[in-house]
Amino acid sequence: MSRKGIILAGGSGTRLYPSTISVSKQLMPVYDKPMIYYPLSVLMGAGMREIMIITTPEDQAAFQNLLGTGKDWGIEITWAVQPSPDGLAQALIIAEDFLDGAPSALILGDNLFFGSEFDQTLQAAKDVTEGATVFGYHVNNPKDYGVAEFDADNKVISIEEKPDDPKSNYAVTGLYLYDGNAPAYAKTITPSARGELEITALNQIYLDRDELQCAMLGEGTSWLDTGTHRSLLQAAQFVSVMEERQGRRICCPEAAAYHQGWISREQLHALAAPLEKSGYGEYLFRISRPAE
Ligand code: G1P
Repeated sequence: MSRKGIILAGGSGTRLYPSTISVSKQLMPVYDKPMIYYPLSVLMGAGMREIMIITTPEDQAAFQNLLGTGKDWGIEITWAVQPSPDGLAQALIIAEDFLDGAPSALILGDNLFFGSEFDQTLQAAKDVTEGATVFGYHVNNPKDYGVAEFDADNKVISIEEKPDDPKSNYAVTGLYLYDGNAPAYAKTITPSARGELEITALNQIYLDRDELQCAMLGEGTSWLDTGTHRSLLQAAQFVSVMEERQGRRICCPEAAAYHQGWISREQLHALAAPLEKSGYGEYLFRISRPAE
């Protein structure tokens, strides 16, 4: 069974108030495109065409207005809601029928991954359909994340959610690959002290079963999160610098669809035309021309 994608774009975004009072965080721009384009392009770049997007009930219509059924991008979007922000692991329970036993890739709607090392690591990890894979990234502020601890053979020995005393500098990023058992395991989790079904608790179940892998993302990967005003601005600056320097736009779902061969050149042109004035469409036109 091929792996299906899940984007969790729920949450109340309170750390970005007042900006996110009336707009979902994952619809806010990161420089030149809505935030959700970034995780979506990750799943598409890894070859996933069946994607569930989970939003809050209030925000679903706005997301649908942006992305529709996914047909124009050669993908199939299934829409679902998370009634209240009860934790990331709940996404697997919400997605149970959609997954129908298939392995999954859950990605958080506010995580931005970029780099050829990342693409290669994800490609390799996604073909492993037993157990779970998380992705570790060295950060300065591990206390803000799930943190993995390793033994001398680089095997994960513990994973803790936002620990006061982190056992390493390796954050567990917001991308998780699970086998078909994840919904059943998620149902056995009890809410944490903050009342949430923690993704770390689901990963702990895999760790206890000796079925958790941690793939390391090194210097060839950029991982940014966008949960605060500062990190959102830094992510936007990063995208702007990369794009201006290289003359290429990054994390464009339309480009991913075209490169995967899911849409034709003519279809890409049709998508580009209404976006031309922003420069984004001009870029899509450009990539559909044969190399000069
Ligand atoms: C969540 C997870 C955390 C993970 C992080 C990645 O934290 O709980 O384990 O490291 O996403 O972005 P949150 O963003 O909900 O604070």
